[in-house]
Amino acid sequence: MEIQKQLKSHGAWVGKWTFILAATGSAVGLGNIWGFPYKAGTNGGGAFVLIYLGCILAIGLPIMVSEIVIGRRAGNSPVNAMRRVAVDSNTTPLWRFVGWSGIFAGVLILSFYSVIAGICLNYIFISATSSGALSATDQFSNVISSPLNLLFWHTVFMTLTALIVSAGIKDGIGRMVKILMPLLGMLMIFMVIYAMINGDFNKAMTFLFAPDFSNVTSDTLLQAMGQAFFSLGLGMGSIMAYGAYMPKDQSIVSNSFTVASLDTLVAIVAGIAIFPIIFAFSLEPNSGPGLVFVSMLSAFNQMQYGQFVGPLFFILLSVAALSSSISLLEPGVAYLSEEGILPRKRSAEIIAFVAWVLGIGSALSFNIWSDFHLISDRNFLDSMEFITNQVLLPLGGMFIAIFVGWFMKKSLITDEIGAMNPVLYMLWRFFVKFIAPLSVAYIFYRQFF
Ligand code: TRP
Repeated sequence: MEIQKQLKSHGAWVGKWTFILAATGSAVGLGNIWGFPYKAGTNGGGAFVLIYLGCILAIGLPIMVSEIVIGRRAGNSPVNAMRRVAVDSNTTPLWRFVGWSGIFAGVLILSFYSVIAGICLNYIFISATSSGALSATDQFSNVISSPLNLLFWHTVFMTLTALIVSAGIKDGIGRMVKILMPLLGMLMIFMVIYAMINGDFNKAMTFLFAPDFSNVTSDTLLQAMGQAFFSLGLGMGSIMAYGAYMPKDQSIVSNSFTVASLDTLVAIVAGIAIFPIIFAFSLEPNSGPGLVFVSMLSAFNQMQYGQFVGPLFFILLSVAALSSSISLLEPGVAYLSEEGILPRKRSAEIIAFVAWVLGIGSALSFNIWSDFHLISDRNFLDSMEFITNQVLLPLGGMFIAIFVGWFMKKSLITDEIGAMNPVLYMLWRFFVKFIAPLSVAYIFYRQFF
């Protein structure tokens, strides 16, 4: 009865496809197209890619199922979902702190996410007018050297995010992704074909898929794991919050498979589109966060109709970023509004504002604060990425796995999982109980102790 009431206050997803679309919208974003290629690039390619794939399968997928199980069972925002399911399982309500850590992580991620997404918005216009007279590398330096420029686009993106979340779950989120995500997929495939014809395809394939484990350090492991959490959008309650709106008759397991596969596919396709161009134009694969902007702009500068294809690409990338950023805001907003602390609209505005202020630090880390180091030798943006991707998300995910594996009442789990192949179920249980938490613990241990 109470669950029914909660569902009503947030609204449930309408239609069979809406959950998958929204969850894919949350997963597919800058993490795939901006983050994955540049991290594969700075970490030497193939070995990173392989470890990343391993993390998706062994850690990400089991935890994704766990998060949705908790979210749908409770029908609440993550803080209350954790508390409620814990109480229903006769264990301590302190598990709600996993929800709190998620809200905190969400704000930190949103802060730098919006800065990078702002650069994408900026590139819609840059790619429309670029004549190629200025090299793509110099163009990127120009963009990031101006604090005001970065702050302007950061503000635009954050405002868009807050507006969509204010509008509420059904109206705001469901609609947009339906048309634009498939379009992004098609454009990415077009870019792969372009890169196959015009780029150094062989070198790119070797770089991405021939693993060289000789340079793998504990840091590579941690980065690959962090990237898996980030890309799937796990460990902070995004997908838990979305799970709360998922109709009971849908299969959590098969939906998770679909979302994780699509997410991985987009990341790999992004890599295959970008690296042939990097090598053909003698750009540096390990040049960092500018990689996608520099490589894609180089391609659009050369391409016939590049001034049309370019803006289209950056529009779609911006939309992908928006459908992710709203899920970063959702856990906090859902909490404040369901507790009746603030109306939905106000909650969205306030949390977005906090993230906006924090984001200023990331915008400045590209220019006037480039020498300011927060955590060891990391600048502000790198530090935010480090705290979230490599600490808070894996930690949150580990606790979620431990909770579902060891503390959540079995009958509650099986209610949500529904009919499932018993072998697959046992396998999932095993991964949630042992493999996922132990892998995270092992990677932490290697890196930090
Ligand atoms: N997964 C998104 C991307 O790849 C970003 C994102 C959305 C996210 N929700 C999240 C990352 C929750 C971490 C946690 O761009």
